[in-house]
Amino acid sequence: SALPYANGEIHMGHVLEHVQTDIWVRQMRMFGHEVLSFCADDAHGAPIMMKAEELGVNPEEFIPPVKKAHIASLKKFGVTYTNYHSTHSEENEQLSNEVYLAAKEAGYIYKEEIEQCFDQDKQMFLADRYVTGECPKCSAQNQYGDGCDSCGVTYSATELVNPKSTLTGSTPTHKISEHVFFNLEKSKDLLKQFLKTAQMQKPIVSKLSEWLDGDLKSWDISRDEPYFGFSIPEENNKYFYVWVDAPIGYLASATNWAEKNHTNLQNLWGKDSEYEIHHFIGKDITYFHGLFWPALLENSLYKLPDSIHVHGFVTVNGEKMSKSKGNFITADQFADECDPEFLRYFFASKLNSKIEDLDL
Ligand code: MSP
Ligand code: ZN
Repeated sequence: SALPYANGEIHMGHVLEHVQTDIWVRQMRMFGHEVLSFCADDAHGAPIMMKAEELGVNPEEFIPPVKKAHIASLKKFGVTYTNYHSTHSEENEQLSNEVYLAAKEAGYIYKEEIEQCFDQDKQMFLADRYVTGECPKCSAQNQYGDGCDSCGVTYSATELVNPKSTLTGSTPTHKISEHVFFNLEKSKDLLKQFLKTAQMQKPIVSKLSEWLDGDLKSWDISRDEPYFGFSIPEENNKYFYVWVDAPIGYLASATNWAEKNHTNLQNLWGKDSEYEIHHFIGKDITYFHGLFWPALLENSLYKLPDSIHVHGFVTVNGEKMSKSKGNFITADQFADECDPEFLRYFFASKLNSKIEDLDL
C-alpha cells in the first residue's frame, strides 16, 4: 500500500486503501500463494518538518510515535503487514543513493538553475503549497503555487499575482537555485513498454498514455535546505525531494524484513525475481507510480511493478476526505464509535475494479 505521510493520523480514506490491500492479500493466501505485504510511513518532506517545528521537536523525535500510532490504528481494522517500516531509515538512505547513482551513471540526471519563491523572514525556499496568490490567468483569489482550482490552469509559484508566503504572510522574493533533474524523456520507450505489459485498469492505462504522448517534463528531484530528507550524494546541501525516496521506501521495507528472515532484496525484487510486485494506491498518486517509479527503477537492480491497483477517494459531500481539508474522521475515532468490521464490510461491498469515489 502507498506509504501514509507521518504528519497526521490514519483516517477513513487511508483505511479504504489498507482494507482493499488486506482483502487481496488474504484472498491470494487462500488461493495458496505466498504473499509478503509491505508498507511504511513516509516520513520526509516539508510538511513533516514544519509540523515538528510547530511542536518544538526534531523531526527525528516526532516520527517514531506517529508510526507506532499508524500501525495500531490499522490493526484495529484487521490490517497487518509482513513489515511496516519508515522511509527515514538506513536501508532507505542506502537504496536511495544506489538507485539515484545508477540513474546518474546511465545519464538520466542533469542540473539546471531555476527561479523559485523565497521567504526572506524564514530564510527558506517555498514549496508550491506554501505560496498563495491570485491566478495569473483568471484572477481567482487564494490559489496555491502549483495551479488554479478555479480555472484549472497550471503555472509555477513565481507567476502568482500578489503572492504571499503561507508560513509568514510576507511577500516572497524570487531566488535562483541549482536543482537536480531526472530526464523522464529518456525513459519514454521503457514506459511505453511498461504500459503494455503491466496489469492496470483501463482508465489508468489511458491516462498514463495521455501523459506519455504529451510533453514529458523533466522531474525536479532536489530540494534546498532546510529540508527533512536524505542529502543527495555528490552534491552540496541538496536533498532528495520526498517523492524520490518515498517509493524506494517500499524496497527499504522489504530489505528490512529480508535481512531478519534469511533472504535478500535481490530474491524478492531483483529483475529476475519470481515474486510479482503489486501496488495499491489512490488515484491522486497515479503519475508517481505509473511514470516516475518505473523510470526510477529502469537502471536499478530491481524489477518494475507487475500491477498497479488504483482506487478512488472516500469523499465527504463529494470532497476528498483529507488532512488538509480537515473533513476527516480518523480510524481511531471510527473504531471508538463502531465495530471496525462494519467499515471493512461496507468498503468490501462497495469496492470494485472501477476508480469510483465512495461518498460518505
Ligand atoms: N506519502 C504519499 C504516498 C507515497 S507512496 C510511495 C501519500 N501519502 S498520503 O497519506 O497522502 O496518502 C496515502 C494513500 O492514501 C494514497 O494512496 C492516497 O491516495 C490514499 N488516500 C488518502 N486520502 C484518501 C481518501 N480520502 N480516499 C481514499 N484514499 C485516500 O500520498
Ligand atoms: Zn485561474
